[in-house]
This record gives sequence, C-alpha cells and structure tokens, in this order.
Amino acid sequence: MKKAVIIGSANLLNLKIENLLLNNGFQKVEIYKNPSGLNVKRHTWEDTECFIIDLDHSETDLVLMIKDLRQHYAANTIPIISLSGNSDLNSLKRAIAAGCNEFLVKPFDMSLLLARIYKICVINKKTFADENQNDQNSSDYTKMQNVEQTADSVKDKDAFTLRWVKDFEVGIPLIDEEHKELILHFNQLYLLMKDGRGHEYFEELLLFLKNYVAIHFEHEEELQVKAQYPDYEKHKKMHLQFSSKVYELEQEYSGKQITDRDLIHISIYIRDWLYRHILIEDNKVGKHILKSN
Ligand SMILES: [Fe+2]
Ligand SMILES: [Fe+2]
Repeated sequence: MKKAVIIGSANLLNLKIENLLLNNGFQKVEIYKNPSGLNVKRHTWEDTECFIIDLDHSETDLVLMIKDLRQHYAANTIPIISLSGNSDLNSLKRAIAAGCNEFLVKPFDMSLLLARIYKICVINKKTFADENQNDQNSSDYTKMQNVEQTADSVKDKDAFTLRWVKDFEVGIPLIDEEHKELILHFNQLYLLMKDGRGHEYFEELLLFLKNYVAIHFEHEEELQVKAQYPDYEKHKKMHLQFSSKVYELEQEYSGKQITDRDLIHISIYIRDWLYRHILIEDNKVGKHILKSN
C-alpha cells in the first residue's frame, strides 16, 4: 500500500494535500496534526512513500523531527517535502540542513506540490496510462474505484487545473512552448468536463493530439539524435506508446459520442503523461542537451 504522511497543524491545508494525494496514486494518507505524541523511532513507517511536513507549527519544532527521521533506519531514505511560510525561511534552511529533499514556500500552487511529489517518489499507481502493460494485474473493480474517485475530484470545486511551474521546464524554448500547449489543452478539457461539456471539446482535442504527436515528438527526437542522447531508443518507445494511444482513441471514438467516463480516462492519461513523461523523462533529455551544447 502506498502511503503518505502529512505532519502539520493547519487543518484546511492538510485536507487539501490529502485530497491531492488520494487523487494521484496514494492509497492511504496519515495525518499528524499534533505530532508531540509521535515517537519517530518506534513507528515502523512501513509503506511510507513520502513525508510532507508543514514547519509552521506553534507547539513543535518539526525540524527536530526531520533530524530524528533521518537518523531512524526505517525512515532515513523516505523523501521529505517541507512547507513553510515566507516569514520563516530560517526554518526552511534548517530543514534542508536536517535532510529534507524538497521545500515549498507558502502560498504554493498544488500543481507545484504534485510536481515535486512525482519528482521524488516513484508512485506505482494503476492508471489508464499503464493499462497496456499491467492490464492483467488489476481487477475491474480497482479500475472502477479509480475512475469513480477521479470523477468526484473533477466535480470537486477545489480540484485544480494544471499550471505551468518551473519544474516542467526542460530549458529548450521550443520544447517548453509545445509542452505548455499540452497543458493548455488539458486544462480546457478539464474545465469543460467540470461543466459537463467535455464531450463538446473531444474532437478538437483529438485533432490537437494528432498534431502534437507528429510534430512535437519529431522535434524532441531530432534534438536527441543531434545531441547523441544515450536513452534515445527508450524515449522514442515512450513516444510511440503515446502515439498509439492517440491512434486508438481516434479509431474508437471518431464519429461517436464520447461518454463522461471515457473522458475521465483520457484526462487521467494526459495528466499522467505530463507528470511522468515531461517532468521526468523530457527533463533528463533537456539536461543532456544543455550539457552537450
Ligand atoms: Fe515532450
Ligand atoms: Fe518526450
């Protein structure tokens, strides 16, 4: 079971983060609002994928807790993301020195927190994106649960559209612009789905995706060949998988009215691509290209 642990005293923020995590692959979230009774060394931390620690705590110095976690064999490799208010940058510096992996200054965008979580945790969640590889490992019931959960999150007025955050940047202007386009289309789909009008946008989205896979992937692959990117073949294969999905969508739905449920699947697939591929794989490519220039 993939679990995240939130330590922080702000109820509303805890709930928002819990919601974000449960809608993005985590199966369980433990929240410790008052961590004074929490014995770091006695806790097993089994299945914990990451800690999110809000340093703005009136009663407890949570930097000391980060130090304890880093000294405990069962927790010393689990990623920690620290949160802090603008006025408390000193705590943030102490948290980094104590061993936290990432930090965010409040107020922050939930897209940014999710980007950081994806970056530091490998979440083996079951998504539409994995269906080709793992179909046999997941029951229909699990799939239904995933879709229902996401359907609720789409209706939820606190659910968020994606915003371009620095973590998405690969550092190559053409590629970044093309990635921004994909985010724009995802957001458009998402906003219309919230209004129950997603199906009106589907044809346009499909047309965009067909162009996107033809042009954007070619741009990226050309740059990789030029820069002799060592994982070119692997990367190309991922592009091919996405292209095949777009082709399948076209075959399956052209001329047909798409259902809300299928639209939800498609939006999850695109969101996963944004976080898994662009944030991680395209970023590796960007780093390699910038280094080789
Ligand atoms: Fe890309
Ligand atoms: Fe790519």
